Amino acid sequence: MELKYMTEKEVNSLLDMKTCIGLMNNVFTAFAEGKMENKLRSVFPVDAGKVFGIMPAIIPTEDVCGAKLITAFHTNHAKGLPSHLGIVAVFSNDDGQLQGICDGTSITAIRTAAVSALATDHMARKDSRIMCLIGGGVQATMHLKAITLVRDIKKVTIWCPTLAESERFCEKHKAEYPDIEFVPCANCEDAVKDADIINTVTPSSVPVLFGAWVKEGAHINAVGACAKANRELDTECMVKSRLFCDNYDSCKNEAGDYIFPLEEGAITEAHILGDLAQVVSGKVTAREKDSDITCFESQGLACEDVVCAAWLLKQ
Ligand SMILES: NC(=O)c1ccc[n+]([C@@H]2O[C@H](COP(=O)([O-])OP(=O)(O)OC[C@H]3O[C@@H](n4cnc5c(N)ncnc54)[C@H](O)[C@@H]3O)[C@@H](O)[C@H]2O)c1
Repeated sequence: MELKYMTEKEVNSLLDMKTCIGLMNNVFTAFAEGKMENKLRSVFPVDAGKVFGIMPAIIPTEDVCGAKLITAFHTNHAKGLPSHLGIVAVFSNDDGQLQGICDGTSITAIRTAAVSALATDHMARKDSRIMCLIGGGVQATMHLKAITLVRDIKKVTIWCPTLAESERFCEKHKAEYPDIEFVPCANCEDAVKDADIINTVTPSSVPVLFGAWVKEGAHINAVGACAKANRELDTECMVKSRLFCDNYDSCKNEAGDYIFPLEEGAITEAHILGDLAQVVSGKVTAREKDSDITCFESQGLACEDVVCAAWLLKQ
């Protein structure tokens, strides 16, 4: 059997962000209809700042099963490599044959931001114009691409650990988005305080987003802290947000942003008001008032990767 392999270049040319948002809408609609389920990933520490993850999924709607194998090595930038490298393998549910393998680095980059855009579309105020990025890596770039598809963003503020990184990010992107004003910020509070949409996209293990800075009516995509030991939001931020997750089990087991305040006794399990499937299907209303602060806590699910790979292998 000839193995079909889809390279990073091929994935990037076929899986445009708008298409991926549509695929992610299908994933969460299928969840709501009971046609999708999620298993927790297995994560193995390799060394300090280095983990290897296995993320399996069965996709009845596509009649496939599969898994993403991914490394997240935050030391990789020094080598000129992305922090996340991986593959997604897809098998037939009918006869178990391997249908193909896709580059998982590009799928991860695109699908994560596509899910945030789907959540943003259902949770953020329609009149959101100012977007903040906390972190300036791959996910910051992808969130810029994705969120601007669902809201008419006029200004982007960004904070990174160094001002030079924030400035580089703005220089790199301003030509592609001529209608957007880019503002690199020397401190994070300045980047956050006027933002209607805030994306936290860092591997931080201590809070980078503080509730005291977040204005009424803002929407937060909390994307970076997808391990128990990591957190990007402080307890106040979590307490004052209407919290929605991608998946209850993942959030309860993997989301430091939620687990730290829970263990402190600042919130209870009832603080999670719904998952994205309930929101997308209209079973739960995310935003009740213009002044609500909504928060989408993203852990990243294997079914998102396998659905993208299955779609790519059919093209
Ligand atoms: N939820 C999901 O589905 C999902 C998917 C992919 C990545 N992620 C997570 O999102 C985060 C960002 O991913 P990426 O691919 O953009 O990574 P990246 O390595 O490309 O970028 C990371 C950014 O965070 C900054 N940073 C590093 N350490 C920091 C710290 N301690 N405090 C504040 N900022 C810091 C870096 O300067 C850089 O701007 C990672 O934690 C990653 O694991 C989540």
